[in-house]
Amino acid sequence: MGVEPGETSDSARIAVLGLGYVGCVTAACLAHLGHTVIGIDRDEFKVKSILDGKAPFYEPGLEEIVQNTVAAGRLSAAVSLAEGLERSEIALICVGTPSAKNGNLSLEQLRRVVDEITCLLAKRSRSLTVGIRSTVYPGTCEEVVLAPLSHYRNVFVVSNPEFLREGTAVKDFMEPSLLVVGGSDTAAVTRVAALYSCLPITPCLVTLRTAELIKYACNAFHAVKVAFANEIGTLAANLEIDGAQVMDTLCRDSVLNISPAYLKPGFAFGGSCLPKDLRALTYRASRLDLKLPLLESVLPSNERHLQRAIDIIQELPARRLGVFGLAFKEDTDDLRESPVVTLLEQLIGKGRKLRVFDAHIVPDRIYGSNQRYLLSAIPHISHLFDASLEQLLGWADHLVIAQKPSSEFAAQISSSGLPVTDLVSTVRAPQFVAEPAAGA
Ligand SMILES: NC(=O)c1ccc[n+]([C@@H]2O[C@H](COP(=O)([O-])OP(=O)(O)OC[C@H]3O[C@@H](n4cnc5c(N)ncnc54)[C@H](O)[C@@H]3O)[C@@H](O)[C@H]2O)c1
Repeated sequence: MGVEPGETSDSARIAVLGLGYVGCVTAACLAHLGHTVIGIDRDEFKVKSILDGKAPFYEPGLEEIVQNTVAAGRLSAAVSLAEGLERSEIALICVGTPSAKNGNLSLEQLRRVVDEITCLLAKRSRSLTVGIRSTVYPGTCEEVVLAPLSHYRNVFVVSNPEFLREGTAVKDFMEPSLLVVGGSDTAAVTRVAALYSCLPITPCLVTLRTAELIKYACNAFHAVKVAFANEIGTLAANLEIDGAQVMDTLCRDSVLNISPAYLKPGFAFGGSCLPKDLRALTYRASRLDLKLPLLESVLPSNERHLQRAIDIIQELPARRLGVFGLAFKEDTDDLRESPVVTLLEQLIGKGRKLRVFDAHIVPDRIYGSNQRYLLSAIPHISHLFDASLEQLLGWADHLVIAQKPSSEFAAQISSSGLPVTDLVSTVRAPQFVAEPAAGA
């Protein structure tokens, strides 16, 4: 387990609120790192179990750590929150956030524990940093924790989501794959990040809401990966192919597959391969009577993303829209299934005045399947082309970036001073926030 007991040089006094899987592992492991920890739970069995030096549930390696840290006087437990907060400077909330009947998450335990903390703050003069380790929807820390606690001086709130997995929770804690601390008070964020300073990980310091969403994004990603592997495995089995070998081989590619490639929010995908191959795969699977809901949902998801972009551009008050990029991505002149072609087609159909520039596309030189694809969508497209970006920027009163610009083009766009809607932005995509809820 890499880290020796009591290794931290910066020992803190911590109350861990909730001694379930997350709280108990957090409490015991932080005590193992050298902090002085008191675990609080309304469940007397869990508290007694810790006081007896035993883990309240089975988790490999946990019992030994609980036993050692209790014996060393660094881990204790109590039912009373007042006792827990009395000497602690940091409180880590690890209560449950189970599913409500309608699928929403239940914040009952969190609200209750925050109420209890609030009652105790009236009589407290020392500062308290409250870290939320429970998984909560973005905005919850602000609304449910920060709002009631903000009436008290010297109380700070940070988000510190937990990423451990049951069954390997102690190992995951000691050798973390990710450490996220979110909040707006730099000192409080640093204080919570410092709890883990002797672990082999660099903390990611972000905002409260970002930290909350990172946790959901991770779990959603894990779930999508499992479902993806299972759908490929199912298809493989039905084709008498070894699905494990297919997925093992897929994982060997750490440039395009197991990598940050394709994992940035941006514009819809297109081109001559991804849409075609997804269609073929799901069509062939349907002929085998196989339902592959995840793979079947990918093209509709992509179309929905494109439609969001079209709706947003439609709302722009601009009279002359300049569109940068026509091919499905930069540095190619392939127009087949380019989402920009669909975007232009729809905007023209709705009467928008627009012109387009793409450094690699000269209308007179397009031929073959490229030409057929383009002309069947937009027959008079050649009249809409500008030969240079300068020309486009001179004509337009608003620019839509539909393809990643080179650094020279980016500088030209920026110095034009034109308002821009950047569909491919990999930094932030504010233009995609405005989608109305279904039925709204
Ligand atoms: N279990 C996991 O693998 C895992 C991993 C990462 C994150 N999470 C998230 O961490 C949170 C906790 O998960 P868990 O599995 O440990 O939950 P859990 O249900 O096992 O434990 C929650 C504990 O909180 C205690 N509690 C509730 N209200 C309390 C109060 N007012 N005062 C004191 N104690 C109180 C309960 O008695 C219980 O022991 C959840 O938000 C979960 O989504 C869980």
